[in-house]
Amino acid sequence: MRSLIDIAELSIEEIDELLQRAEDIIANPKKYAHACDGKKLATLFFEPSTRTRLSFEAAMYELGGNVISMASAGSSSATKGESVADTAKTVSCYADVIAMRHPKEGAPYVASINASIPVINAGDGGHNHPTQTLADLLTIYREKGRLNNLTVGFCGDLKFGRTVHSLITALSRYTGIKFVLISPDELKLPSYIKKDIIQKNNLEYVQTTDFEAVLPELDILYMTRVQRERFFNEEDYVRLKDSYILTPDKMKLAKADCSVLHPLPRVNEISVAIDNDPRACYFKQVFNGKIMRMSLILKLLEVEV
Ligand code: CP
Repeated sequence: MRSLIDIAELSIEEIDELLQRAEDIIANPKKYAHACDGKKLATLFFEPSTRTRLSFEAAMYELGGNVISMASAGSSSATKGESVADTAKTVSCYADVIAMRHPKEGAPYVASINASIPVINAGDGGHNHPTQTLADLLTIYREKGRLNNLTVGFCGDLKFGRTVHSLITALSRYTGIKFVLISPDELKLPSYIKKDIIQKNNLEYVQTTDFEAVLPELDILYMTRVQRERFFNEEDYVRLKDSYILTPDKMKLAKADCSVLHPLPRVNEISVAIDNDPRACYFKQVFNGKIMRMSLILKLLEVEV
């Protein structure tokens, strides 16, 4: 039995297999319509979500399976003091696979060592979000036709943005990747990722506050929201929230084939005027997220199609 807590648990070969399966699901959806007949997914979300929870649920329905859902911590026995471990043991009696989001880093890991079914990390605090990374990788692969030889810019909240941490971890294993890290000083990438992932693997990177100076060199621009829910005080959030706003004027500086990604939700950091720019890929990412979650569910449940 296999869970997915950190994207680093998947080898490049396994990611490639998930991507190829995703392409097949897109091309032949009917082939998969009964792949998970009789199986149940439990979505346990202790933190708000639109895309991740609904895409997991849509993924399981499109595979012919069923869903049981806990959409908020407030509607669960966590409010009475039940532990994550006991919740995982309990839900193992009802479902075949769990997708869990939790504000505490490591909570899905605790669930995975207590559950008797696979647990998928659907985002844990400011730590990791491996299935968003799978969506991001499919989007980059479909836009660029490759996952190597790319200059990838991450812009915004690189400190608390868990999608950034997971995507850097995943891309660090491909060749010819250069990272451009654009953030205010207070929201820089955590040093454990810079040291243990980027520097340890001798990857090329630059760290800057000057968005416009580096924008012309990017193949991929990964914009992020400043993560209000992770701040200790509102004043800091208000001061930093609009540090970087991508506007049509700024897009004039970008390459003609620069792909703009964002895990969403968006607040102000991408002007809606960019949504019709052919380089805007963030709603493609939403679709790709559902497909990659289908691909992952099939893998973890060891379903042969
Ligand atoms: N990208 C993402 O995790 O979105 P939600 O918070 O809406 O699930």
